[in-house]
Amino acid sequence: MSGVTVRKIHHIGIVVEKLDRAYGFYRDTLGLPLIREAEVRDQGVRAALLAAGESEIELLEPIASGTGVEKFLQKRGEGLHHLCFETPDVDAALAGLRARAVSLIDQTPRPGLAGMIAFLHPRSCAGILIELLTPTARALLPPSPLKFKRLVLGARDPRETSRIFQGLFGLSEQAVNGGPRIMFPLGQSTLLLVPLGEVGGNEGMVALSLFAQDLDALIDRLENAGASMLCGANEVTLAPASTHGVHLHISRHD
Ligand code: CO
Repeated sequence: MSGVTVRKIHHIGIVVEKLDRAYGFYRDTLGLPLIREAEVRDQGVRAALLAAGESEIELLEPIASGTGVEKFLQKRGEGLHHLCFETPDVDAALAGLRARAVSLIDQTPRPGLAGMIAFLHPRSCAGILIELLTPTARALLPPSPLKFKRLVLGARDPRETSRIFQGLFGLSEQAVNGGPRIMFPLGQSTLLLVPLGEVGGNEGMVALSLFAQDLDALIDRLENAGASMLCGANEVTLAPASTHGVHLHISRHD
């Protein structure tokens, strides 16, 4: 069994209190183009997709109580919520997973914001909520001043998490010089597994890195917006208080 075919990270989902306020940062300050906004009733959310290179950022505002996203917001506050892989055939992917008795949230695909989607149960993915998506149309993404670079996952046992990800999604490791970190290249971006000790004991999705085409102009916009950040020569690190709960690193694209 080779696992689900994964083309790329389609998007990462971020739960926010209010979409309008989150636009102030993600669309207006970072400059990510808004692709689509709509209500997804069966998830009880109003959701928006913004382009970031070949991947997207999905903002999710709960609009109904008792739903997964609303409970997440109550319990954890704003922040990284799920990771979505693009797959060419979500029906075939689910059939393959069912045949292997992998725990699923969705037994059959349902319509999402960008195509047909299905969620796997976090207990089958080392505690990470994974969505699979087959886009309805392979629309060209608008050019974006920032590109998706890396998603950092905190893992209790990176070796074990890697084994699960390789088995479910056919991902292959890229050698990292020694140490406990494990890297999976995925299209133009990477997934990085790091032990909990390196990420303050936080398990699951812990940080996001983007490339900026013009870092100096971006830093000016962040300063004007009053963002709380640490600037290096080639990188800026933003505090979760300024990003709707996300540890965000942006580096200069060379
Ligand atoms: Co999603």
